[in-house]
Amino acid sequence: MKKRLYYLLPLLMLMAASCGQQTKVSSPDGKTRVAFQLTESGAPQYCVQQDGKTVIDWSALGLQATEQNLTNGFTVLSCSSDKYRGQWETVWGEERMIDDRHNEMTVSMLHSSGMRMDIVFRVFDDGFAFRYVFPEQEAVELTVTDEATEYRFTADHQAWSIPWRTDYYEGLWSKAPLSAKDTMCSPVTIELLGGGYAFVHEAALEDYPAQNLYPMNGALKTYLTPWMDDNAQIMNEKAYKWLPFNSPWRMVILARSLPEMVASRIMLNLNEPCRIEDTSWIKPMKFIGIWWGMHMKSMTWEQGPIHGATTANMERYLRFAKEHNIQAVLAEGWNLGWETWENFSFTEPYDDWDMDYLSNLAQELGVEIIGHNETGGNAADYEEQLEEAYAYHQAHGIHAIKTGYVSPIIRTVDGLQLNKGQSGVRHYRKVIETAAKYHISIDNHEPVMPTGLQRTYPNLMSQEGVRGQEWNAWNVSGGNPASHVTILPFTRVMAGPVDYTPGVFAFENPLLPQTRVNATLMNQLGLFVCIYSPLQMACDLPENYMKHPDAFRFIEDVPCDWNRSLLVDGKIGEYCIFARQDRNSEDWYIGAVNADEPREVCVPLTMLDKKACYTATIYRDGDNADWQTNPYDYVIEEREVRAADKLDLHMAGGGGFAIRLKKNE
Ligand code: NOJ
Ligand code: CA
Repeated sequence: MKKRLYYLLPLLMLMAASCGQQTKVSSPDGKTRVAFQLTESGAPQYCVQQDGKTVIDWSALGLQATEQNLTNGFTVLSCSSDKYRGQWETVWGEERMIDDRHNEMTVSMLHSSGMRMDIVFRVFDDGFAFRYVFPEQEAVELTVTDEATEYRFTADHQAWSIPWRTDYYEGLWSKAPLSAKDTMCSPVTIELLGGGYAFVHEAALEDYPAQNLYPMNGALKTYLTPWMDDNAQIMNEKAYKWLPFNSPWRMVILARSLPEMVASRIMLNLNEPCRIEDTSWIKPMKFIGIWWGMHMKSMTWEQGPIHGATTANMERYLRFAKEHNIQAVLAEGWNLGWETWENFSFTEPYDDWDMDYLSNLAQELGVEIIGHNETGGNAADYEEQLEEAYAYHQAHGIHAIKTGYVSPIIRTVDGLQLNKGQSGVRHYRKVIETAAKYHISIDNHEPVMPTGLQRTYPNLMSQEGVRGQEWNAWNVSGGNPASHVTILPFTRVMAGPVDYTPGVFAFENPLLPQTRVNATLMNQLGLFVCIYSPLQMACDLPENYMKHPDAFRFIEDVPCDWNRSLLVDGKIGEYCIFARQDRNSEDWYIGAVNADEPREVCVPLTMLDKKACYTATIYRDGDNADWQTNPYDYVIEEREVRAADKLDLHMAGGGGFAIRLKKNE
């Protein structure tokens, strides 16, 4: 990681309150407080208050394991607290500098079985987290079968979630009272009755199953993703751990407003600092690709008369990228294996793909090639080829690879498993670590839900785990509703960068006439700012971009690495307006997307430097724009603006806008 600014104030205070009863820890501003206690049976519990109100009532903590029931029978050995005030610099991100300000409380406990377990709490101004810590001790292993962790919210709030068995997390998020939910993937975004938001997730998932959540008896309970047996049946076992170990962090952002929720960096702060020493090779990039054609059915992955990844096509894309300030080109279907989706080779191209020629051309043009490794869900086979595959890509000057695991149940070294179970989590981490050795960044499709691991491994740049744009290409039941992209920034994107693939410029597909992208062209520009990814794809075909070169100008200009980011305004499921400052200039970019109802908004420019004047290039929906009837109606206009100005803008149904604010000399 680049210049890092860390300072730890190790203030080891013995708690004044008597241990074993109630102990408390507050956020640095004193407004968020977490209390811990043991019940009479020695069951650990916590509760949380913010601004003097109880947000989470006494809720259970602990684990069940084959060896021990670690949900009660505890006594407190000691409590200690710490205080941390620091700041660190991201390699890439929505923000250059991140503040980490929290207070910590460690409760060390002894179980009646003789086992030691600590719970470490961290409280930030905008939320809290805790994790289970098993120090080195006589016992050496633990087979976790359940986690008792619960979140007993004090009211039946409205929550946004997708069901836990949503394949690849590619589902539509729905809102309902917590009590009416079935099972939920983590994260869950909660609209608190009476105002404010809670975002329940986990951080630093490194060697553990992903958490899921479900409501029961008034609480939100944890369900860890299980292992599968030889017959691909769900087992009771969830995690196999050697001691000592820490569980992932269980975290909840508690924000008074949506802008505050979006600005929270708790998840990144809870992850370990960067483990990659030299990060100079990790580069945020915009890319185009031989990709949308396959989803729209005008090209194929496998070799044949309309094969996409040919030398000639790739040369055309590389030259187009060079001309239009696009740093990289992805090519899918360049390698053997697509006929059967079995036995993919990651080192052998089809014979109409000249890797040497293309890699030399790319280097000559200064454009990167993004490799593609679809595994068809055979993670075990991929692991066998990993070193050789990455050495091959590195030898051809390739510094980024898109990976894929199309199969709801993947084959890992442990047999058929759920990708978000412990075995899958281990596989994804092995991929990131191995890729780092070869200076390769990863854009992972069909991933386990991100938990901020990109702080530790910044070569884990983007991930799918979302119902992406591709659904608009082939989903004959209506694609992604216009509201979808107004929900994602407050749900999935909160968990980490998303490879949504914005930028469709042609909305009809004669080859799949039942499909439709539910957006206006301006909405597609707004997505470049609203859905964050440091590897940001402009997904449409070069020929479609050249039908609207004036609008494509925004895609040429917009960066994908930011100095600052903020939510200007928004409502989950209705609209959102984001503003982000370029990391490499003083320019700002504003993007907005809207759901079905047309809307008038007023955008204050208070984020701008008060002393400066900016040239605003505004790309907005025309008066007659509408995603269904007239997606191509847009206006591009330029004007001089200052921080005191406000922009009144119209958004069509399924519309949006994009603004470049260039600081004048
Ligand atoms: C699913 C991925 O999400 C998509 O982007 C890719 O084109 C296909 N798999 C083929 O690998
Ligand atoms: Ca996918």
